[in-house]
Amino acid sequence: MRIRASGLLALTLALTGVLDFRSAFGAETEIASAPNTRGSNTTISTAGPINSSNLFFTPLGNGRSCASCHDQSAGWSVTPALLVARFAASNGLDPVFLPVDGATSPNAAVATTAERSMAYSMLLGKGLFRIGLPIPANAQFSLVGIDDPYGFASPAQLSLFRRPLPPVNENFLTAVMWDGRETAPGGPSGECIKGRGPEACFAPLTTSLANQANNAVLTHAQLPGGLTAAQALEILDLTTTLFAAQSIDAVAGNLAAQGGHGGPVALAAQGFYFGINDPFAGDYRTGRFNRNAMNLFAAWINKAPPPPPGTPPGKGPSAQARAQASIARGEVLFNTRPFMISGVAGFNDVLGRAKVEGTCTSCHSAPNVGAQSVPRYFNTGISSAALRTPDLPLYTLVDRATGVSLETSDPGLALQTGLWQDIGKMKVPGLRDLAARAPYFHNGSAPDIAHVIGFYDRRFQIGLTREEQADLAAFLGAL
Ligand code: HEC
Ligand code: HEC
Repeated sequence: MRIRASGLLALTLALTGVLDFRSAFGAETEIASAPNTRGSNTTISTAGPINSSNLFFTPLGNGRSCASCHDQSAGWSVTPALLVARFAASNGLDPVFLPVDGATSPNAAVATTAERSMAYSMLLGKGLFRIGLPIPANAQFSLVGIDDPYGFASPAQLSLFRRPLPPVNENFLTAVMWDGRETAPGGPSGECIKGRGPEACFAPLTTSLANQANNAVLTHAQLPGGLTAAQALEILDLTTTLFAAQSIDAVAGNLAAQGGHGGPVALAAQGFYFGINDPFAGDYRTGRFNRNAMNLFAAWINKAPPPPPGTPPGKGPSAQARAQASIARGEVLFNTRPFMISGVAGFNDVLGRAKVEGTCTSCHSAPNVGAQSVPRYFNTGISSAALRTPDLPLYTLVDRATGVSLETSDPGLALQTGLWQDIGKMKVPGLRDLAARAPYFHNGSAPDIAHVIGFYDRRFQIGLTREEQADLAAFLGAL
């Protein structure tokens, strides 16, 4: 059976009953580890040794494979360093460098090495691919201004520059893609967000992921016809059984030792269901929201008590114990450090309160993972005009009903729903295996973890001290 857009129903039917990966749990096999700025990460498979001839690793269509953009060593994303090395080794002819979505514009000149290094500047600098999406028919807004430094964007195809999200740890996924555009709708028999209508009911995740794989092949790999159902299943057999996390911290050591619960083995055993620890309606099974969503390193909190007065210099707790305690303090800050959340569309308006006291886990709530456990989207301001850098296009949108206008570098969810209130909303990404895949945010605007923390400290006026910022960074880097 060949799959085309119209064939996806057949694919859905083929998947239901064949595959319930949430219950699939076999022997774990470590498949790879790679160094990063904070230590190293590890990926395991719960389905035994992985088959390196899986379609995920096979070049298709234009010579790219999924792994061209989803590389284990880069937290299953790609990093600028990796891309710069690939560019140097191939004079910019490696298939990851293609005008379709690798270049700043599909029309960019790519004949010479110099032209290619210009054309692929967003990939080389920030690991960003160009996603082309239209203003939807019947949108509540129209596009009245385009400031595209690369001269390509139009209402038929806005250029949006986005980081590859990792296709692993999928057991904890509900919204697929930054703007959720591959999250398949479902009937009321599916999983539904509490308190909303049938528009907030979703098909099994495997349906979304199979559609996603097919569309990835059609767009990124330019393979006419896309995947057969069996081919999509082959890719899902791999990705849905991969768990990736930081495993070693350069100073704190093994993140799964001495009572620590970091690393991919504990992650693979982490419980999850639709609506777990939901901050809005409460957990869908227990009814309660627990802000202590991260519970990996509590055992390390007293590793480095302040040495008693008179302790000679160099005789206090070891560097390892201090690093472990810093990670544990960072976890406590992530769970409990209160700040005022305001002006976040999808959050304040939905709760009907202009100011809500919350913590990082008010949004990053799925236990020990940090995504949302239902498809929900927030505008924290990453694509606002104020944070726009000259390398990003800027779009002026006007609300057809009120005439109000605003500028954004990425309308996010609004390009799916056509709703004015959804402009700039993105999903809450999971945070495991974070250290391996800088830069962060959908547009790669935070070059490292410290810049992520700096963004939040300014955005929500948290007032973190330098030591608190270091603790939070140590924790995020240990995920
Ligand atoms: C040319 C680069 C490229 C290739 C090739 C590619 N991807 Fe991606 N992938 C991306 C980008 C960029 C995103 C995020 C786009 C967005 O959200 O708008 C993404 C997102 C995803 C996601 C969403 C994860 C999440 O958390 O929502 C999955 C799953 C995924 N890709 C799987 C695959 C598979 C499977 C293949 C091969 C069939 C593939 N990708 C090929 C660049 C690529
Ligand atoms: C109001 C909801 C909300 C709160 C509160 C929040 N986040 Fe986020 N977080 C998001 C959203 C949405 C994104 C994706 C934003 C984007 O890329 O446009 C995100 C992205 C991130 C990322 C980048 C992940 C990646 O893969 O690029 C990190 C790291 C992060 N948040 C950490 C934190 C920390 C630490 C705190 C507390 C200081 C926090 N967040 C508070 C909603 C929130």
